Amino acid sequence: MYSKLALLSVLIATTASVASCKNTTVSVDSTLSYRLLPDFEGNITDNFIDTTTTNSTVASVFAAAREAVFISYDPEFLEIIGPNPTLKLIAQRNESFAIEAGVWVPDRNEVWFTSPTVDNVGSVWVLNLATSEVYTPVTSIPIITPNGGYYFNGVVYITGQGTATDAPCIYAIDPATGHTSIVVNSYFGVRFGGPNDVTWVKRGNNSYMFFTDDPLSQFYSGGQVDVLPDAVWRYDPQTQSIVPVISRADVLVPNGITVSADQRKLFVTDTTATSGPLSQGAGAGNSGSPAIYSFDLDDDLFPINKRMLGIARRGVPDGLHVDDTGRVWTGEYEGIVVRNSKGKVIGVFNSETTLSDQSTRVENFALAGDTLVLLDGERVWTLKLAYEVVSPDRYYISS
Ligand SMILES: *[C@@H]1O[C@H](CO)[C@@H](O)[C@H](O)[C@H]1NC(C)=O
Ligand SMILES: *[C@@H]1O[C@H](CO)[C@@H](O)[C@H](O)[C@H]1NC(C)=O
Ligand SMILES: *[C@@H]1O[C@H](CO)[C@@H](O)[C@H](O)[C@H]1NC(C)=O
Ligand SMILES: *[C@@H]1O[C@H](CO)[C@@H](O)[C@H](O)[C@H]1NC(C)=O
Ligand SMILES: *[C@@H]1O[C@H](CO)[C@@H](O)[C@H](O)[C@H]1NC(C)=O
Repeated sequence: MYSKLALLSVLIATTASVASCKNTTVSVDSTLSYRLLPDFEGNITDNFIDTTTTNSTVASVFAAAREAVFISYDPEFLEIIGPNPTLKLIAQRNESFAIEAGVWVPDRNEVWFTSPTVDNVGSVWVLNLATSEVYTPVTSIPIITPNGGYYFNGVVYITGQGTATDAPCIYAIDPATGHTSIVVNSYFGVRFGGPNDVTWVKRGNNSYMFFTDDPLSQFYSGGQVDVLPDAVWRYDPQTQSIVPVISRADVLVPNGITVSADQRKLFVTDTTATSGPLSQGAGAGNSGSPAIYSFDLDDDLFPINKRMLGIARRGVPDGLHVDDTGRVWTGEYEGIVVRNSKGKVIGVFNSETTLSDQSTRVENFALAGDTLVLLDGERVWTLKLAYEVVSPDRYYISS
């Protein structure tokens, strides 16, 4: 017991210069997620593990969890992270540069991510997973106010929030040549509010691009106030059409979007917030929830059978990824939250220990095969998982 403690303090001392946190795992009994002594006090603006309770056993588990990177609520989470999970610091800057997207490009062994902006200098970054080098890609036209993204069949798609002069759009980048074009930027001559995130769905030999549009453009670089109602859109390159497929009555402020590995289910996060910039503009109102929804995709590629499968404990769910077994991973204020396919929260990568600046949030991340890439603002971490959670197949028409 004592020698373990001594060892722990030595480890803390040696890693303190990089980060003050520990690669510890704390398992929290999942019954505590719904039952505590009646005099508990929790605050929706803090994390669950900040809840106070007069049960001293539980209080000390929560205290330990606050210091831990890995918080487990289910043995399935422990299986994913393996017996000795260790975060590796890949990059650290004194500016918040690793925020959005989190696009795995399997054939290049890269993860692309972005820094959205409020001053016209948003950036796209590429992490080479083999060398841990981070660089800025060269593109044939500028990528203006980049946000979410997806890789599909040799092309990196990045959403652009637009500026006063440039309409919000979706870019297609050939990562080999840097050749870049605009895929969509208008609905019959009307600007989008700000495409936020994008995904591609395969059906037979055809493929379809789905993207979320929300009212963010007006907050970036003088973008115009949005006029179109927020929606999820489907672009069909086979029939050259663009069709709204989820209304704001179903998802008030659609943000993250992705498809299941079997291409049959669409997942969307709603970043309805009660305060801050996201509560302003056309998306404002109280009918939305900071929630994750899934839909079945019918034969005509319409999302049907809406299901709610989670509400962010704190803040909003932003970027999301669905792994090969149907687990849903989301960037939330508590960190990266993993739910099983039935919606149970099985674990959290605790942002209190990975973010250098607690006034910032985890918004997105990448699942690159067996590697989790954490986009923590000023820091990029990688974590080798126990096995491959996402295989590359979904990103190619045929493989
Ligand atoms: C995890 O451990 C590694 C290796 O000791 C260290 O470099 C890293 O900073 C630690 N991460 C955290 C979040 O403590
Ligand atoms: C929750 O925390 C916020 C921010 O610290 C504070 O303003 C608020 O009063 C707290 N609410 C309760 C019920 O304690
Ligand atoms: C305190 O929590 C522990 C662990 O969950 C439990 O075994 C114990 O019964 C609790 N004590 C009280 C008074 O509820
Ligand atoms: C960040 O680093 C750059 C280059 O080293 C420096 O010019 C800048 O002042 C630093 N900013 C802050 C906020 O420390
Ligand atoms: C897909 O394309 C292949 C090759 O052109 C063709 O043989 C096959 O019939 C097509 N499948 C469908 C569902 O259209």
